Amino acid sequence: MRFFAKLIVFRAIIHCKSYLLSKNSHHNIFNLLRQISLNLSGQLIVPVLYLDSKIMKIGIASDHGGFELKQELKQRLSSLNYTIVDFGNDNFDPQDDYPDYVVPLAKAVANHEVERGIAVCGSGVGASIAANKITGVRAALINDHFAAHQGVEDDNMNVICLGGRITGTETAFELVQAFLNAKFTFGERHLRRLGKADPSGIDFTKER
Ligand code: RB5
Repeated sequence: MRFFAKLIVFRAIIHCKSYLLSKNSHHNIFNLLRQISLNLSGQLIVPVLYLDSKIMKIGIASDHGGFELKQELKQRLSSLNYTIVDFGNDNFDPQDDYPDYVVPLAKAVANHEVERGIAVCGSGVGASIAANKITGVRAALINDHFAAHQGVEDDNMNVICLGGRITGTETAFELVQAFLNAKFTFGERHLRRLGKADPSGIDFTKER
């Protein structure tokens, strides 16, 4: 029992610390308070651990080429308790253009209105080109599991691009989960490389 009590307090402290340390924290304050109260009231540890990794606010966008996959990913991620902001398209329109949805998503990522983005078009190529036009966005077309997490760990990728006509639902969901669960390592060499590749002067030691 003492062990569990210590674990609960430890987790509460960690959460307070990470919340206070993150300048641009997008953790919902109510989620944080709910989590701390769960910790302190000594309720179940399982929900605490569950909430721990599921309070991220994610943006998602697609054109017609990615519409079906977007809807599926949205539903699956919502059921995992991620907060999903859908930048459209809201309906299947075979005439729509991916920049109309991907650019607003990319801007929301760059402005830290959402923590990460998922952009889907037919191939994922147009979405990644459009997203990368926005300063502060580091988007990549991802087709394999290794790149899905290493792109975040080393390169601080904040938008994953997928091809709705290329990648099946199960694979896409695994790629997205690998992306969302990965964290930038802030390794010195990675910070150096990001700095060299980015003319905007963003301070990557603070960038999340
Ligand atoms: C739309 O038909 C298609 O060109 C688009 O979804 C995407 O694949 C572009 O890269």
